[in-house]
Amino acid sequence: MENVTIFDHPLIHHKMSILRDVNTSSKQFRELVEEISALMAYEALRDLPLKDVTVTTPIATSTFKMIAGKKLAIVPILRAGLGMVGGILSLVPSARVGHIGLYRDHETLEPHEYYCKLPEDIAKRQVILLDPMLATGGSASAAIRFIKERGCTSIKLMNIIAAPEGIARIQKDHPDIELYCGCVDEKLNENGYIVPGLGDAGDRIFGTK
Ligand code: PRP
Ligand code: URA
Repeated sequence: MENVTIFDHPLIHHKMSILRDVNTSSKQFRELVEEISALMAYEALRDLPLKDVTVTTPIATSTFKMIAGKKLAIVPILRAGLGMVGGILSLVPSARVGHIGLYRDHETLEPHEYYCKLPEDIAKRQVILLDPMLATGGSASAAIRFIKERGCTSIKLMNIIAAPEGIARIQKDHPDIELYCGCVDEKLNENGYIVPGLGDAGDRIFGTK
């Protein structure tokens, strides 16, 4: 699949299996979402540009590397995307954080916007859009559209679990987007839930059901 990275790392496989388990507590679920997000970000940020810097160690002065180029913005899709923020900020604490509030209508599965607050200079930033679940792809596609409408040209989408239908939707609506998926599951069920999936990510993170 073009522009899609699917992770095949033992740590991600292991943590994902515990995450999916119906008996995993909200506390452990939140911790796992953060840990998996950090592991995924480590790879998704591999192409960050570097610049030379001069550093004086206690022994000598020499040239080393630091991150250069576009600054980062991470944008969680509310609610469930919030669970991924801490994991990314643990690696890039200076990243700005925007928020897009969307909920999926249970009948139509169409996304509805209720909040959008993005960094003023988002057009100049590399955006990492976060949502643990990519099901029909409607929510992520709408969020990408909002970000593009603000002039942003560099967007990566990170999902912990994706359905093939969601990946196809993003590739159709936004072929320029790079996708990072912890894994790709089998299908969607008749209610638009990912099978086998992990259930409702927002409810499991926040303990609302
Ligand atoms: C979930 C999930 C995604 C969306 C995925 O959010 O976190 O945002 O559904 O479905 P889609 O790909 O078919 O659009 P939900 O609408 O349940 O809101 P919540 O995070 O507030 O629970
Ligand atoms: N949203 C979720 O939280 N889980 C799914 O399986 C699909 C959409």
